[in-house]
Amino acid sequence: MNSVITGNIRLTFFPGQLNKNSALCLFRVRPFTTAVFRRNLTSEIRVFSATFVETEPTAPVAVDKEGSGGASGLACSICYDPLARISDSPLYVGATVGSNLQCNTCKKTYFGNQTHLDLVASRGSKQYDESMPLATEFFRTPVISFLYERGWRQSFVFSGFPGPEKEFDMAKNYLKPVLGGNIVDASCGSGMFTRLFAKSGLFSHVIALDYSENMLRQCYEFIEEEENFPKEYKKVTLVRADISRLPFESSSIDAVHAGAALHCWPSPSIAVAEVSRVLRPGGVFVATTYILDGPFAFLPFLRTFRENIMGISGSQIFVSERELEDLCRGCGLVGFTCIRNGLFVMISARKRSS
Ligand SMILES: C[S@@+](CC[C@H](N)C(=O)[O-])C[C@H]1O[C@@H](n2cnc3c(N)ncnc32)[C@H](O)[C@@H]1O
Repeated sequence: MNSVITGNIRLTFFPGQLNKNSALCLFRVRPFTTAVFRRNLTSEIRVFSATFVETEPTAPVAVDKEGSGGASGLACSICYDPLARISDSPLYVGATVGSNLQCNTCKKTYFGNQTHLDLVASRGSKQYDESMPLATEFFRTPVISFLYERGWRQSFVFSGFPGPEKEFDMAKNYLKPVLGGNIVDASCGSGMFTRLFAKSGLFSHVIALDYSENMLRQCYEFIEEEENFPKEYKKVTLVRADISRLPFESSSIDAVHAGAALHCWPSPSIAVAEVSRVLRPGGVFVATTYILDGPFAFLPFLRTFRENIMGISGSQIFVSERELEDLCRGCGLVGFTCIRNGLFVMISARKRSS
């Protein structure tokens, strides 16, 4: 059924009348619309100059599995239940425009644009808006996203970061047990590691995830521009999501990599708990960050400095390896190990095999 009514209409729903199909109705309302919902179990909607379109309920959708376009493992940020594709477009980079995904449980729909799939919980909100801590918002700005791979990231060598190629080689060592599986490049930024993971051909699917739309745009553009990015190896999906609410089914991911990001996360413990939830038993977590120890440990007022910085910026300052080990253990990860170079640290831990 597909009906269109124009003009002033008054709809009165009585208890029990609102059903699944009513909920799927789509209202296209012009500006200056007023809507009054009475709470006495009768809902009344007054629409002035409105177009009312009732649509066919969405056809039941099958959960997408490996090999059919990449929805495998993607889950609703609200329910964590599997997402199903309701459009034919594959979910790989460069093909996400027009991609529609729907949660079979709560029916929330998620859409793809030219660069990525937007799977944040607040997706679709019109009136509601929220700001994340500074350390997250900072990377959402176009200028920082643009500069990130054009000099900013390179400056990390001064604090001991060995550089992307070397960091990638080090990470590969930790990832040996899960080669051939899928990997999430969490907080991928402009996608330096996403591209290295994809080009290596060592993983069945690379999911690049970040909260910043502008970083994801950079990531998309670098992939498009990359000369020796194998066109036949496009099993890369770009996803916008909050690290504290990962849009993946529990125990569906073989590896999570997070380069230079732990200290930027609003709550490292919630984030690592999420990583732990989505990893399969035996799955590997590899991350790099800074540890402010050595001479810094002797700074008077370090504790106060740390608390103030964390309070203002929303970023975390780690002061020992034991702190990171404790974080991983507290979130259910085992076998912690790390490599240091100056302030740089690469850590790895895995989800206990059942
Ligand atoms: C320093 S960059 C690291 C980029 C890249 N992984 C690398 O190794 O260079 C930190 C990244 O964390 C992302 N980020 C910050 N808060 C986040 C959040 N709440 N959820 C997901 N990503 C977040 C930022 O958008 C940014 O891209």
